[in-house]
Amino acid sequence: MGSVLKMQFVALVCLVLLNINTCNGVTPSLEPPQGNSLKLKSRTYEGKYVYQCKNGTWVPVSASAMLVNISDSKISLGNYSFEYSAAEPKLVGTWYLRNDDADAAESGSVTSIVAGNEIASRAGSDSGSIKQVIAEASFHKSFGTAYRVSYIQRLNTKGGLPPLNKSKYCSENSPVIVPFEAEFWFYTQDTIPPLAPATIAVPASDRAVVEGFFCEGIIDYSYDGSQWQRKNMHGKLYLVPGGDEVGSFHMSDKPDGHGGRFYLETYNPNGWQVVGKIISHPVKVEDDSIPWSLFKITSSSGNVSLVGPFSYYTMVGTRGGVPPVPSNVTKKGASWAGVFSCQFWTYKPCSPPFC
Ligand SMILES: *[C@@H]1O[C@H](CO)[C@@H](O)[C@H](O)[C@H]1NC(C)=O
Ligand SMILES: *[C@@H]1O[C@H](CO)[C@@H](O)[C@H](O)[C@H]1NC(C)=O
Ligand SMILES: *[C@@H]1O[C@H](CO)[C@@H](O)[C@H](O)[C@H]1NC(C)=O
Ligand SMILES: *[C@@H]1O[C@H](CO)[C@@H](O)[C@H](O)[C@H]1NC(C)=O
Ligand SMILES: *[C@@H]1O[C@H](CO)[C@@H](O)[C@H](O)[C@H]1NC(C)=O
Ligand SMILES: *[C@@H]1O[C@H](CO)[C@@H](O)[C@H](O)[C@H]1NC(C)=O
Repeated sequence: MGSVLKMQFVALVCLVLLNINTCNGVTPSLEPPQGNSLKLKSRTYEGKYVYQCKNGTWVPVSASAMLVNISDSKISLGNYSFEYSAAEPKLVGTWYLRNDDADAAESGSVTSIVAGNEIASRAGSDSGSIKQVIAEASFHKSFGTAYRVSYIQRLNTKGGLPPLNKSKYCSENSPVIVPFEAEFWFYTQDTIPPLAPATIAVPASDRAVVEGFFCEGIIDYSYDGSQWQRKNMHGKLYLVPGGDEVGSFHMSDKPDGHGGRFYLETYNPNGWQVVGKIISHPVKVEDDSIPWSLFKITSSSGNVSLVGPFSYYTMVGTRGGVPPVPSNVTKKGASWAGVFSCQFWTYKPCSPPFC
């Protein structure tokens, strides 16, 4: 319901303000995909950005800040740091978060760590401020609070930009330190699937959730002269964003004996493979993301009996992967690869009260 309203709102804004064809990407969403929930809000304290002059331009080389509870600055939550890395140009930073006593006892560490890469950004809260960003987790260390984090938003930024007078002050040998403030909001991946539109809901007799996975993948499209046709889809399965890689998925040209073409598989030990076919029309839930789909499992192999038998799986909580609106210069036969992320959820039959 919320998403439908949001889509209508976005569409309305696009119609009113802009040419609708150029609307995607104009105001990128800083919201994490559905299937993630806000767990912790923090605010920076003693934040600083360090810029170095390179070839006449200020470039950020590092940043750091302490993190406190957003509503009680006496409660320390950890810290934030950023170190520029050519190997990871989209790195937003690394967050150390204090563990609660139970997690500290279990992991043997008083802090846990998450690092994340930028997936979308928007201008700062005012013209003198660093941009607002959403980062997807790319790395975790030590069990605890940060270990479960899937997305991090940097919001309500203040300051942190390099001096404007670059020609006057930009000198290779003297870095500048600029104070900044921001809020960092931390999200974790849900342990239950997001609510799907009714037409792609799993049948009531098969609603026992077995497992959920985070996915990252690529969809290949080819332009047939009037629209983009999906040619292939493949990628990897992870427990959570930035977590362990546990499997893969792909679309096959040749169906199994029962019309299934979409393969989902986990690695050994105890690996299994299921093949599914899309059984009702996929539904576009977010305007700028590929549709959500319901798959009926047509065949399976491997150690399915340990967790299954599976009967359905869903691809939900999608982000990205939508091809550009074709223009008069898009040629028949043109190809386009869309990067996307999603969640896959597997289901098995159940009877009340277990579903
Ligand atoms: C330095 O800047 C000049 C002019 O902006 C540019 O032509 C040159 O390629 C830059 N050099 C490097 C190493 O980035
Ligand atoms: C943050 O502070 C509020 C108000 O004191 C408190 O209710 C909340 O539990 C604190 N959260 C954390 C994570 O410390
Ligand atoms: C952040 O906290 C960790 C663990 O307490 C510490 O090792 C690290 O030096 C701190 N980083 C900054 C930038 O304060
Ligand atoms: C830039 O330099 C000029 C001349 O030195 C000075 O008047 C101005 O205030 C400076 N602007 C900023 C933003 O520092
Ligand atoms: C089932 O799991 C075991 C390890 O637990 C593995 O050695 C075996 O190859 C698996 N069987 C299949 C068919 O994947
Ligand atoms: C494509 O359309 C634009 C206007 O939408 C027009 O200006 C341009 O000439 C067209 N190009 C071709 C190759 O038809």
